[in-house]
Amino acid sequence: MAGVSSEVRGFRFRKLEKPEEFRQLLEVHRAVWGDEGVPTTLQRAIQDNGGLVLGAFADIHLVGFALSFLGWDGTTLYHYSHITAVRPEYQNHRVGFRLKTFQREEVLKLGLSELRWTFDPLQSRNAWLNVRQLGGRPDRYYIHYYGQMPDTINRGQETDRLRLRWELSAPAVEERLGGKTPTADEDLARWNSSTAIVETEVGEKGLRTPTAVAEPSGGLAHLEIPFDLAAVQEHEPETVRSWRHAVRDAFRAAFDLGYRVEDFAVITSGHERRSFYLLGPAPRASPEGAAPPAGSL
Ligand SMILES: CC(C)(COP(=O)(O)OP(=O)(O)OC[C@H]1O[C@@H](n2cnc3c(N)ncnc32)[C@H](O)[C@@H]1OP(=O)(O)O)[C@@H](O)C(=O)NCCC(=O)NCCS
Repeated sequence: MAGVSSEVRGFRFRKLEKPEEFRQLLEVHRAVWGDEGVPTTLQRAIQDNGGLVLGAFADIHLVGFALSFLGWDGTTLYHYSHITAVRPEYQNHRVGFRLKTFQREEVLKLGLSELRWTFDPLQSRNAWLNVRQLGGRPDRYYIHYYGQMPDTINRGQETDRLRLRWELSAPAVEERLGGKTPTADEDLARWNSSTAIVETEVGEKGLRTPTAVAEPSGGLAHLEIPFDLAAVQEHEPETVRSWRHAVRDAFRAAFDLGYRVEDFAVITSGHERRSFYLLGPAPRASPEGAAPPAGSL
């Protein structure tokens, strides 16, 4: 997790244009999930009708993409980002961050001010990118959202998702995009001053497992997820379900009590890295009325 100032060199970010580029998207999708994803004809239809199919290119080769389309919830018009992916060999080099910031720029050009998407709450890297670096705020919890999925990442898993809202011009978002993030000491202080709503302990194989879930009790709370879900899946697959259910129960209880996700942090403690959502109680309602509480479904 380098500083936000690191550069993304050697990549070009632009809309996909040619049929061959839409075909390359299928290859990137296959490299990441083992199947093809969105058909080329649908990609073209999305691109030409208010949607955005954006790519990260190394020379003429597509190495990552972000696909979004217009969304409407009855009140707000926004862009809904359905998939973002980077080829495995290019991951962790800021390509995903640049794709999302490019997507933001393009959505702002369309005259919209919000992007939404969903992500697996147990994926620490996604939470880091979406919440910590981009300043997006998850506000809903969906249980087994897609049902069973056959792809290599989701196969055999309950497909719970957090719905996230990214208010593109909110001051807090602009701060994060400008590189203003809490220091490691500040994260540690927030972690120390908050209470655990998922309690964990290190098991025999050296991996953490959840042992209990508690409701938040008024002040700041932290909600732990595995730092490396893939390692849990490989070495202790039987505990993935415990994680899934603990995190689900904790999020639902917290959202029901009006708690909101304020940030995401990774704490280093000895040789261990631990990942946490940081949650706080919603501000008290003012006479003019406060924003509606976050929800769980
Ligand atoms: C999610 C994804 C699009 C991000 O793209 P990327 O190019 O790898 O992302 P970036 O390099 O910009 O950012 C990843 C950040 O997470 C950090 N990170 C890596 N592993 C992490 C972990 N276990 N916990 C917390 N942060 C982690 C990286 O260090 C990096 O942060 P930094 O820039 O501060 O160092 C890409 O990894 C991917 O395709 N994943 C599989 C598919 C997927 O999950 N898609 C999203 C849902 S549709």
